[in-house]
Amino acid sequence: MRVLVAGSHGQVGQHVTRFLAERGHDARGMVRDEDQTEDIEALGGDPVVADLTADVSHAIEGSEAVVFAAGSGGEDVWGVDRDGAVRLVEAAEEEGVERFVMLSSMGADAPEDGPEPLREYLRAKADADERLRESDLTYTIVRPGELTNEDGTGRVHVGEHLDARDGDIPREDVARVLVTALEMESTHGRTFEVLSGDEPVESALDRPFGE
Ligand SMILES: NC(=O)c1ccc[n+]([C@@H]2O[C@H](COP(=O)([O-])OP(=O)(O)OC[C@H]3O[C@@H](n4cnc5c(N)ncnc54)[C@H](OP(=O)(O)O)[C@@H]3O)[C@@H](O)[C@H]2O)c1
Repeated sequence: MRVLVAGSHGQVGQHVTRFLAERGHDARGMVRDEDQTEDIEALGGDPVVADLTADVSHAIEGSEAVVFAAGSGGEDVWGVDRDGAVRLVEAAEEEGVERFVMLSSMGADAPEDGPEPLREYLRAKADADERLRESDLTYTIVRPGELTNEDGTGRVHVGEHLDARDGDIPREDVARVLVTALEMESTHGRTFEVLSGDEPVESALDRPFGE
């Protein structure tokens, strides 16, 4: 599949780009800095320079799917986490892309209940997720808890509503979930939360998501 990765040079995005290439997909890695293009090639991706706060139509051209792994890091939540994501959803609709996998966040279902410093960010993520749900695209929305830089284990706990106090999840495993979800029909039209756990990613995604 020809897949555009937004945020492909990010910490999650680099794992996503590498996994896509390893699984035989044509990974198009969006970066906003020309100097990052060599790194994307080294991961097996095909770089494209684009900024989510500007026109992205050239980046999405010819794509069959999108994985959104970009994020503002709290710098510009409305411009990147909300409007940048919405811009890419709308560009995907225009391009006739079928599939869109969104890296969201635990807490985006109830921003007002989140910790005060995170509320704006969670509201921005909630708005972007809502726009994706209203789109014509076949979506999957993945909401991980706190991210770590531990090595991935390939084992997760997936549910519609998990308790954030129950743990965290390595970025490598989040990337594994995003790429596996992209390939699995059982995740179409689904929103779920994910933490580290005991179940292999594929089987966790291939059943109803209970608590
Ligand atoms: N941290 C957590 O515990 C946590 C928990 C749940 C969900 N999340 C979500 O996971 C996301 C990814 O995490 P991460 O650790 O991989 O973040 P990261 O390393 O900061 O990566 C974010 C990527 O987005 C890119 N980006 C930012 N603004 C952009 C723009 N205007 N146009 C195009 N690309 C842009 C960055 O590019 P540059 O290199 O050019 O800056 C970077 O490559 C976070 O942003 C957050 O939404 C995080």
